[in-house]
Amino acid sequence: MKRLYIETVGCQMNVLDSEMVVASLRKRGYELERDEASADVLLFNTCSVREQAENKTYSALGRLRSLKKANPDKIIGVMGCMAQKDQQLVFDRAPYVDLVVGPGQLSRIPDLIDQVAAGHGKQMAVSLGRKDAANEEVRRSHETFDPLRDPTMRPTPFQAYLRIQIGCDKFCTYCIVPSTRGPEQGRPPQQIYDEARILADQGCKEITLIGQTVNSYRYKSGESTTRLSDLLVNLSEIDGIKRLKFVTNYPKDMTNDLLAAVRDLPKVSPYLHVPAQSGSNTVLTRMKRGYSVEDYREMMARIYEMVPDAAVTSDFIVGFCGETEADFEATKQLVSDCRFKNSFIFKYSERPGTKGAELLADDIPFDVKHRRNNELLELQNRISEQENQKFLGQRVEVLVEGPSSRAVSRGEVEGDLVQLTGRTPCDRIVVFDGNRRLTGELVQLAIYECAPHTLFGAIVTEHVTPKLLPLGQGA
Ligand code: SAH
Ligand code: SF4
Ligand code: F3S
Repeated sequence: MKRLYIETVGCQMNVLDSEMVVASLRKRGYELERDEASADVLLFNTCSVREQAENKTYSALGRLRSLKKANPDKIIGVMGCMAQKDQQLVFDRAPYVDLVVGPGQLSRIPDLIDQVAAGHGKQMAVSLGRKDAANEEVRRSHETFDPLRDPTMRPTPFQAYLRIQIGCDKFCTYCIVPSTRGPEQGRPPQQIYDEARILADQGCKEITLIGQTVNSYRYKSGESTTRLSDLLVNLSEIDGIKRLKFVTNYPKDMTNDLLAAVRDLPKVSPYLHVPAQSGSNTVLTRMKRGYSVEDYREMMARIYEMVPDAAVTSDFIVGFCGETEADFEATKQLVSDCRFKNSFIFKYSERPGTKGAELLADDIPFDVKHRRNNELLELQNRISEQENQKFLGQRVEVLVEGPSSRAVSRGEVEGDLVQLTGRTPCDRIVVFDGNRRLTGELVQLAIYECAPHTLFGAIVTEHVTPKLLPLGQGA
């Protein structure tokens, strides 16, 4: 038996990719290992979306220098977006790395590890450009149609990601993803359906369809075109699947057929992640996002009109090139008006290789980015808490995900009654006390308290009034 240590950062794509890599290595006799020092192979699945993510990976690699020196047989691999972006630079910065593999070449990892073990030296497998990333091997590498996908790598055994699209064609000027993940390609609907069936047969109840711009999904075959809304209709028919979600949406492609599917299909969660990035038209133009603030507001109005109970979430970048105080105020206004369930807020990080890095100066000082980040976060948190307050006294249905992080950190591993967490259809986290055997079940909760990012609930038990028997007739 060989031992595999794997560390994953980045988005859902990477979580799914790691799941596939672990599955392919299990077939070759590997077992997962949580301790770096005991592992034979150490893999890092990396992200390049912000510099900080890369620095984290390089410092994690730095810690392995002495381990590798003492144990030259250990194999260290870097995979994912940073491997694709940095290529030879990974070997230059961390000379004890043996393996560099881009997101399109992951299926080759088991063979490449064997090559290193056989003494053939360092191995690198990456796409040579966006064209190369459109070839058959890359597409196959992203196939998740594999019954041996490793459920232990998933957030839980009853929740799974299902890739419906690879790559991105939008080329926002700040973003590295189109160059690390290649051109946008939709997977054939039949493959997606078959994979969902297998997941359902394995006991999976919630599937999250993933793509960088998931609602841009189109698959043409002859005369017919399949859209995301069509996929949702088809996947809804699968018994066993109780919930369907999809991320991440592109504002321009939020079409009415999709909103109608969210409204009409009971299994589809009314949860929509649609990043706005900025509330200022000058900034949006510089970002090349392809829509105006007015377009975004129109989309929000349409969402709330067609799906009144929708929970919308967003991403924002603060301190993008040339962002003035007035631009930032416009972003705050948008956040105030849209009342997002929550927003992820990022400080702009210049990415070499993007149009932004080439053409625009990263001219907003760090402390200004930092202040805007905090201000926007504070505003969003206030809104999140107000939106959560609407749930006080309400009943919600959650899919129970397991013991809460508090229960886990307190080491509450024994006993049936623990603090559990679950998620509502609108993706809100609810904490409640219950039997750990409820994990994976749908449970009704009454909400009695809330914080900006958490609801607190209690299991609803149907009160049955006991039938009173006349005296003397009891058992
Ligand atoms: N495809 C998705 C997600 C892309 S990456 C989408 O289009 O929404 C996730 C988020 O990271 C983005 O929405 C953006 O807010 C942020 N991001 C991307 N590049 C960044 C950069 N260079 N600096 C800071 N944040 C960035
Ligand atoms: Fe990046 Fe824009 Fe594509 Fe999202 S849509 S992955 S932000 S280029
Ligand atoms: Fe990061 Fe690549 Fe995802 S850059 S956000 S891991 S697509």
